[in-house]
Parts: sequence; C-alpha cells; structure tokens
Amino acid sequence: MNTSIGIGVLGAGTVGGTLITRLVEDRAAIAAKTGLDLRVLRVGVRDLGKERSFSLEYGSVTGDLQSIVDDPDIDLVVELMGGRELAGDLVLAALEAGKPVVTANKELVASRGPELIAAAERSGVPLLFEAAVGGGIPIIRPLSETLAGEPIDRVLGIVNGTTNFILTRMADDGADYADALAEAQELGYAEPDPTADVSGADAAAKAAILASLAFGTWVGIDDVYHEGIETLSPIDMAFAADFGYVVKLVGIAERTGGGVSTRVHPVMIPTAHPLASIRGATNAIFIEGPSVGELLFAGPGAGGDPTATAVLGDVIDAARETLAGAQVSSRIRFSPGELVPFGDVPTKWYLRLEVDDQPGVLAQVASAFGDAGVSIKSVWQEGEGSEALLLIVTHRAPEAAQRAAVDHLRKVKPLRNVASIIRVESEEP
Ligand SMILES: NC(=O)c1ccc[n+]([C@@H]2O[C@H](COP(=O)([O-])OP(=O)(O)OC[C@H]3O[C@@H](n4cnc5c(N)ncnc54)[C@H](OP(=O)(O)O)[C@@H]3O)[C@@H](O)[C@H]2O)c1
Repeated sequence: MNTSIGIGVLGAGTVGGTLITRLVEDRAAIAAKTGLDLRVLRVGVRDLGKERSFSLEYGSVTGDLQSIVDDPDIDLVVELMGGRELAGDLVLAALEAGKPVVTANKELVASRGPELIAAAERSGVPLLFEAAVGGGIPIIRPLSETLAGEPIDRVLGIVNGTTNFILTRMADDGADYADALAEAQELGYAEPDPTADVSGADAAAKAAILASLAFGTWVGIDDVYHEGIETLSPIDMAFAADFGYVVKLVGIAERTGGGVSTRVHPVMIPTAHPLASIRGATNAIFIEGPSVGELLFAGPGAGGDPTATAVLGDVIDAARETLAGAQVSSRIRFSPGELVPFGDVPTKWYLRLEVDDQPGVLAQVASAFGDAGVSIKSVWQEGEGSEALLLIVTHRAPEAAQRAAVDHLRKVKPLRNVASIIRVESEEP
C-alpha cells in the first residue's frame, strides 16, 4: 500500500522552518509511529536568498507559491505564511483542487473561515487549523470534536503570550507598561512592532475562532470588540491585588441575552480563578459547560517548536484522511445565530478617579452613576492634600449604561481625571 504523501509548505519562517526541519529529520520516526511517509517536496518563500535552518533531501524552494498548489505531486498543502489575501487565495485554490490544507493562520481563519470551510466541504477534503489558537495547546479539536455535543456556556481565554508576559511583570514587580514591553521585546516575546499583540487584535482573531467553534454560530474577526493593555498602570495591578484580583487580557465568548457575545479586553479576575495563575507567556483556555463543568487547557501559546507540533499533528491527521481516500465532511458547521452588541452585554467596572477633595464629591459621583442606571457596589477613598483618589466598583449593568455613567461623571465639577477603567469578572452581580 502506498503510504507516501507529497507535502508543499507555503512559508518557511518561525513555524514553517521548524515544521520542515521536523518533517525532514524525523521522517523515519514519524513513519515508524504512523505508517506515513511524509515527504516535503516543495517549499514557498518570499526571499530566495535568505539562509534557511533546514535542508531538503529531494525537495526545492521556490518563490512561485501558486506552482506549489498546482503541482500534481503535492497531495497536501501547509500554509504558514500569514496574512489574509494571498494566503487565503492559495488555500482556496488548493482546496478547490481537492488538496487537504493545514494552516496556523488565525487571521485567515477568523476572516475567511466560512468561505474556506465551504470549499473544503465541496471538495470533500479536510481543512485543519489546530495551531491557529493557543499554539501548542490542543483546543480546536477538543472544541470541534470532543465537546461537539456540549452546549457550551462560556469560553475565557488568555490567548496572547506577549500581553500575559507584560501583565505578569507589571503585577509581580510593579514594572510600568513601557519597561515590561521593552523586556518582552528583548526576550523575544514581543515583536519590534507589538501593535497587533498589545492592542488585543491578535487575541480578537483567536477569540472569534473559539466563539465560532464553541457556539456553532459564525463570529468573524470584525465582530469582536477589542481593547488592549497599553493604558494599564502598575497602580491598578496593586489595587487589584489588594481587592483579591489579578488583571489579565482575556478573550470572552459567551451566550448572553439569546445570542453570542465575543470580546477582548483587560479584566480583573479573582485570584482563585484558574486563569489567575497563568503566568508569563503561557496561554490558557477555560471552558464552562452545563454537563462537562469547567475545563482548563494550558501551555505554550506560540513559538516555533510548540506551534509546529500542533501543525504536524494536523498534517498527520490530514495525510491519514487522504490515504483513506474517503470524502471528508467538515467537522465544523455554522447555523445562523444572533451576535449581541457589546453595549447590551452586562459588565461590571472598576474605576480609579482623581477628584478634588471637597465635601459632597462622593454624592455627586454616586448620582452620575445613578442617572445612568448603574449602582455602585463599593467605594474606597483616600485623600492627599487637595486631591482625593476614589476607587469605585460598580454592580453589573449593560456596557452602554456604564459608558453613559462615565459621560455623566465627566461633567461632575470636582472630577479631575478618570485615571483608569478595568472590567471586573466575578460570580457576584
Ligand atoms: N510564530 C508563532 O509562534 C506562531 C504561533 C501560532 C500561529 N502562528 C501563525 O503561523 C503563521 C506563520 O507565522 P511565522 O511566525 O512562522 O511567520 P514568519 O516567521 O514571518 O514566516 C513567514 C514565512 O512566509 C513567507 N512569506 C510571507 N509572505 C510571503 C509572500 N507574499 N510570498 C512568499 N512567501 C511569503 C516568508 O518568506 P521569507 O522567509 O522569504 O521572508 C516566511 O518564510 C502565521 O499565520 C502566524 O499567525 C505563528
């Protein structure tokens, strides 16, 4: 029986280079374990002059990526170049040509998922993307297969290692944001341009994929509200710790108000919550379901080796399907569902306010919240000369009402500054 699969890899950077090295060097070990002879025949890159960490026994490196997809010797295409347009068009062409595709590209899946899944379904071939969320953490397969029958209530994810590293340094050592970011860059946890990570955009793409798989309703990258960590201060980390919380950048996907809400923003989570102990660049995904209870998946969310392990698992899975020769029907289906606007979602806020220290200020602040229909859960006040610090935690109210309360607050005369706002995740109302 022929067990040989010709593989074309589009992109040979951090993940692609590692994957190719593993496929070449571990070829015999993989064959012994799986019975599959996985052969890298073609590799596509942008810069043919760049030195590579791998050497191909019999394959070739090219700048013509379409020729890889079109090559009749290529049975399976692995997309590890990133981006939506060119990568998406090549993936689509491969699927339409009846070739299985494996990708780690969260941006592509979160923006063109339904189009690509439909093409895979038409051709009866797998489209697998385990590495697109959580790097080396198995999460796509558990969500789309193991938990396919569980009516999941909520998914919370720390899905960006760069921001979790920065927030851990700020919480543990009182580092300010700029210093923690510089350290993350020095250690290779943050890109020279960290915008996609620190703004929450990278996490938003991953949250969109998690939400789509958890609820079976398509949530695209543009449906996810996101806020980053750039304005967080170590002062708030310290206050959070005093109140029994840790600040994390969390992707939240939940059923609420008859629909699905998906968002990414910093949240204060209780120190007893399993996500509170996720430190440094580690990622974790926490799933709540009525029958399964609570599940935590944690591990390395990025990096060449862990991510290539997840990609390799998909390659082996897709190769097995290919050799079995059967038409594969998609493991993922979406049905129409309502996406709840963020303004309607009940949230709970912590605010740090700088005010003039004068009689009646607390009453004015309370009435600003009351006018917007938001009630205050607790207030902590500290005076310093003519200025006072007010720390306020509200009860849960629609996000739009919380924002309206802050608009009212800005009109309160003794208010000097709304120094920070962080949403609070807790069991209490
Ligand atoms: N890095 C991680 O830890 C990680 C984790 C999870 C998922 N991912 C995802 O995996 C994918 C790859 O990430 P990466 O970190 O490996 O990226 P990378 O290091 O930047 O590598 C990208 C590769 O694609 C090639 N490429 C890019 N645009 C191209 C074009 N227009 N034409 C031809 N070749 C092109 C590059 O060629 P040259 O080498 O010639 O420049 C390079 O080999 C992305 O979708 C990313 O989101 C990465």
